[in-house]
Amino acid sequence: MTTQEKLNGSVMGTYGRFPVVLEQGNGETCTDENGKRYIDFGSGIGTSSLGYCNAAWTEAVCSQAKKMQHTSNLYYTKVQADFAESLCRETGYSKVFFCNSGAESNECAIKLARKYSFDKYGQGRHTIITLVNSFHGRTLCTLSATGQDVFHNYFFPFVEGFRYAEANNIEDLKAKIDDTVCAVMLEYVQGEGGVNALEQAFVDAVYEICGEKDILVIADEVQTGVGRTGTFLAGAQFGHKADVTTLAKGIAGGLPMGACLASEKCAGVLDKGAHGSTFGGNPVCCAAAQAVLSTVTGEGFLDEVQKKAAYIREKLSAIDGVKSVSGLGLMIGVELEEKTALDVANAALEKGLLILTAKTKVRLLPPLTITYDEIDEGLEILKSVIEG
Ligand SMILES: Cc1ncc(COP(=O)(O)O)c(C=O)c1O
Repeated sequence: MTTQEKLNGSVMGTYGRFPVVLEQGNGETCTDENGKRYIDFGSGIGTSSLGYCNAAWTEAVCSQAKKMQHTSNLYYTKVQADFAESLCRETGYSKVFFCNSGAESNECAIKLARKYSFDKYGQGRHTIITLVNSFHGRTLCTLSATGQDVFHNYFFPFVEGFRYAEANNIEDLKAKIDDTVCAVMLEYVQGEGGVNALEQAFVDAVYEICGEKDILVIADEVQTGVGRTGTFLAGAQFGHKADVTTLAKGIAGGLPMGACLASEKCAGVLDKGAHGSTFGGNPVCCAAAQAVLSTVTGEGFLDEVQKKAAYIREKLSAIDGVKSVSGLGLMIGVELEEKTALDVANAALEKGLLILTAKTKVRLLPPLTITYDEIDEGLEILKSVIEG
């Protein structure tokens, strides 16, 4: 029996998987069970931010695993304390709650926003406005927050209290806001929704309106955060800091971690007993995340991310068959003239390049550590597939 047959026989069929069995990774490349090499322009959907088995990351993970792999949040650990302090210092937030995924970090943000409002204004101010075409996760609550009808099936009843405003439509946003609203939640660049960056004027309007009405702004930086767009948080490029920011994906370089960051004004909302997570702030994940944070905030690292992003974008735009290139930094969407994104992804796989799709676009989320040689090699394959 092949690995594919075995897995399909035992694992629920919730994913459309590419027909390849990946076995080993090294830097920005990996090999399959037959030893075939692939350049990875997907990094586990933006997760292995330092590539496969980065030396500093591996050392941090292995030495923490040998010391203490887990203890509960009934106790303190130095590694969690150190990482929390570093993350808050780097992002300018006051407090963090640790969990295990993007959906969980958004659940935390939603609970925090509702309780902030409850504590201050009492019951009834619980509506969260999210954007059409957003993606916030797969739990019932974050599916409800996700502004795409396609996700609002089968699992009824969904969680009440979400309203969807059109991205970049200030009038629609204003029309959706009433006295029941406690938060607006946005992705600066909608990832799963098609790698579309929000317009500056719209983001400015969100902050202005929310500021006037004491409505919290929640930035879902699960995909855009931790250097992906060329700054540690994408919000910096829009000139704004949300009241609450959520992180996951690349934060621990490929181990499960989510983080919900709260600014001073709402840092005390989730108090004793209000929220929890058995694995949240796990020592091995914190050690991994500290290695990622130290690397990404190291001298010149994010400047390099921006330079590589500009280089890739310029080369992509010059490919025949590419209609437009979207996104921010190393979060890249490629709109194609004729070919379908899935056909291109399958053909690229054949030729030794892993890429992703988002709606009708090809999506690239290469490791932040990718080299120019690897970029050239990967883009050569992509060009041959798109132009071929
Ligand atoms: C913006 C955003 N939020 C939330 C999520 C959900 O993250 P997770 O799959 O870790 O729960 C994703 C995943 O793609 C995402 O892109």
